[in-house]
Amino acid sequence: MNMLSQEKIVEIRNSVNIVDVISSYIPLTPKGKNYFGVCPFHDDTNPSMSVSPSRQIYKCFSCGATGTVFKFIMDYENISFIEAVKKVADLGGISVNIGKVHKKQNHTELHQIYDLSLKFYINNLNTASGKEAKEYLSKRNINEDIIKEFQIGLALKKDTLSKILIKKFKPEEVLKSGLVGKNDYGYYDMFYERIMFPLYDLDGNPIAYSGRIYNREDNSKYFNTRETEIFKKGELLYNYHRAKNEARRKNQVIIMEGFMDVIRAYSIGIKNVVATMGTAVTDIQAHLIKRMGREVILCFDGDEAGAKATMACSNELLKIGVTPKVIRLEDDLDPDEYIRKYGQAAFQKKIDNPISVMDFKLSYLKIGKDLNSSVDQAKYISELITELNKIDDDILRDLTIKKVATEMGIDESLIRNHLGPKEKEIKKVKKIEQPPRTDKYEKAESSLIYYMLRSPEVITMYNNKVTYIPTNEYRLLAREISAFYKNFGFISEADFIDYIECDPELMDTINKINKSNTKENYTLEEIEDYINVIKDYNVKKEIKRLTNKMKNLTDPLDKAKIAEEIVGLKRSVINV
Ligand code: CTP
Ligand code: MN
Repeated sequence: MNMLSQEKIVEIRNSVNIVDVISSYIPLTPKGKNYFGVCPFHDDTNPSMSVSPSRQIYKCFSCGATGTVFKFIMDYENISFIEAVKKVADLGGISVNIGKVHKKQNHTELHQIYDLSLKFYINNLNTASGKEAKEYLSKRNINEDIIKEFQIGLALKKDTLSKILIKKFKPEEVLKSGLVGKNDYGYYDMFYERIMFPLYDLDGNPIAYSGRIYNREDNSKYFNTRETEIFKKGELLYNYHRAKNEARRKNQVIIMEGFMDVIRAYSIGIKNVVATMGTAVTDIQAHLIKRMGREVILCFDGDEAGAKATMACSNELLKIGVTPKVIRLEDDLDPDEYIRKYGQAAFQKKIDNPISVMDFKLSYLKIGKDLNSSVDQAKYISELITELNKIDDDILRDLTIKKVATEMGIDESLIRNHLGPKEKEIKKVKKIEQPPRTDKYEKAESSLIYYMLRSPEVITMYNNKVTYIPTNEYRLLAREISAFYKNFGFISEADFIDYIECDPELMDTINKINKSNTKENYTLEEIEDYINVIKDYNVKKEIKRLTNKMKNLTDPLDKAKIAEEIVGLKRSVINV
């Protein structure tokens, strides 16, 4: 719990208009009493998100995302509830004294281990034994400011870190961190004689390292911490926490392969930049990128591997409705090398003039083909058609078709006639064909709670008539709603959501409920029906339990007693 009272939170929420705030993130258009926009929390192009100024709530009719202005900012910017409250307070001109904003992540022992290791590695670099590493960094044009900002450190030859950590933390946690190993001789450091680049989670906590060799030959230039409970490489982007504000401000984000590239770009003032760290971009990373800014620019290494990675990354982005732009660097250079060779102005010019993803793909598809041979021509056009089907952007599609037709001296219809439906549309149709299955019991629970969130009358009925909601997540939510009503004597969805501080699990349940219920009004019969269905379920479960119990009994008298109970229960089911 934070230090702000519920009243203060309500005051802060009321100091702004949800429509103004959300429209500073996504375009909204008025329709009737509400405003509509394209939901940023799932893949969509239709305006499924409605924002209600009177209820101070937004709701997506497609994915079910619901919340107040705080929840929107939390999810959009990936910040904690209290950080979002602070932001809104600033917007509304309300002063709040919540001191240092706490990070969303709960600080586990593993985090503490990383915090300490970071101090240790940073310190090593400043000792006499760090001289060689410092020289290496300075040769690479990495100055003291950069070393500080990116918290670059050094692992030395000895197993000192192991000793420090084992003394301070539980050995099993230390081993879990991936920083320390154990053999017959005892604990040893996993990293030695490497320059240590900390990797951070989305909130900026150090959670892993990439260690680079600097004074010897080794098969692996970089050695990374293995995946742990807190480090999943495919779920983060290097530099995300530093880049996200600048990316939002510019509405542009630049993606690179290596963290050295990012460090270089950052040091010349290009701060809206993140790195994928040399692995194939995952769906999670693609979504993170999508939220950072509307314009996405891929600036991978200039070599063949970089071109391949650009293909793969752009396809992952196209799948979720992002059409990226592309920068290609000459002479196989990576951004770090390019900037050092040609300077800041030349690189800025590259960023200001990216090519379209289709122009990139056209040149990529041409590699290794002889376009004078009709065999290769046919192959080129067929591959091109596959790529065009991935594109959602109609204008870019048309432009590309025209360009290729002219270039190849063929009729546009040759391409157009072979185009299939857009891949995204095929996916949409598939989704509609298979609506999520909810059985009648779940439907009853979900609808009951949906109306509890809207009406004190339904809460009272729940309090008086429902003894037990079978599904865990629904039961917890119903209890919270009931408790809220008991405390405050009224119910409003917006206030309730803020009261639970957008607790992720409860919010998931609320979103699910809002997705499967849409009707604003209810009749008392409907509510009684839901309650009866829930009771019915509980009784049936009890009958099942008793029947099983009876099977295991031998004493005929005991058996008879239970049989009687079952008969009574069965009657009550029929009665409802
Ligand atoms: N990488 C890795 N393990 C390797 C090589 C690369 O994890 N053996 C990751 C690193 O995160 C690196 C990224 O892939 O940042 C890109 O690799 P590369 O282009 O080789 O790195 P550079 O940024 O060019 O590194 P340097 O300039 O230090 O050679
Ligand atoms: Mn490099």
